[in-house]
Amino acid sequence: MENLDWRNLPFGYIKTDYNIRCQYRNGEWGDFEISSSEYIDIHIAATGLHYGQEAFEGLKAYMGKDGKIRLFRWEENAKRMVLSAGGIKMAALPVEMFREAVFKVVQLNKRFVPPYGSGATLYIRPILYGSGAEVGVKPSSEYTFIVFTTPVGPYFKGGIKPVKMLICRDVDRAAPMGTGIFKVGGNYAASLRAVMASKEGGYESPIFLDAKEKKYIDECGPANFFGIKDNTYVTPKSESILNSITNMSLIEIARAHGMKTERRQIPVEELSTFTEAGACGTAAVISPIAKIFDPEKEIIYEYCRDGKPGPATMMLYNKLVSIQNGDEPDEFSWISVVS
Ligand SMILES: Cc1ncc(COP(=O)(O)O)c(C=O)c1O
Repeated sequence: MENLDWRNLPFGYIKTDYNIRCQYRNGEWGDFEISSSEYIDIHIAATGLHYGQEAFEGLKAYMGKDGKIRLFRWEENAKRMVLSAGGIKMAALPVEMFREAVFKVVQLNKRFVPPYGSGATLYIRPILYGSGAEVGVKPSSEYTFIVFTTPVGPYFKGGIKPVKMLICRDVDRAAPMGTGIFKVGGNYAASLRAVMASKEGGYESPIFLDAKEKKYIDECGPANFFGIKDNTYVTPKSESILNSITNMSLIEIARAHGMKTERRQIPVEELSTFTEAGACGTAAVISPIAKIFDPEKEIIYEYCRDGKPGPATMMLYNKLVSIQNGDEPDEFSWISVVS
């Protein structure tokens, strides 16, 4: 195992030993190539550069107490990447090839998988982009798939901590019939003005509203929203949000613990009725929400008044993290052991 200060790693990029690459040419995927370079040679007319033909994924490898390295629901990431590729007319990578690349890259970078108990993990970033030259607006005939890894520190250094969020009405990350359901780079570029405005105001993230009516909660920056009330887990139904794998999993855990679950439109005013609220995604698992500020209406919605995440949030968080770390039995069959 590499000798890094695991507990104080940032959520940023640190070079590991290898990445894996594969090219799609003449209508078929080639063989995987293992590289130790952090750079790519890219054609100046590649569609990935000009027309945003780019999609990515994010998942993590977890070191267990038993020394086994576990992946969490990698098939969902593979399937989502197929969906994203289709959404912007790219060649999709078959799920089995995604599996092979992800397992291999983790094995090759084993010494960078952070130790059990550090809260750090090995973040895995698959990317897919149009690499063939085109000048007219059309899909490329060539694609490149790369998977790289980087060890990342625990999202919340001193333990899970409630955060402040800002409702954003002046930027849309995605339109209802647009690309919001795909994990494509353009959505993140579109979100950056709002992300920076929220950070500058001291908030963790913007909460986007539905782009058409500005009435309903869409997403919390790069995470899905959920609210809790009356033993019910409520999360937005929207045509423009990414289907979070963490959210899908929390819904299943909530049900297994006797909670009701609802996926439906959440009007902004309903925020006042939740007893707990949170944002969920691979990076932090759950960011409990302490306050949501709506600058237009000058309303503050408050949760976690004692400074601590609520009981349902903690139950969901602890259960999911225990399964990911291999501390609890994999009762939902979400885990694959890499080695
Ligand atoms: C826009 C957006 N929403 C939600 C999520 C959370 O998805 P997941 O739980 O699959 O990481 C992410 C992160 O991948 C994201 O980028």
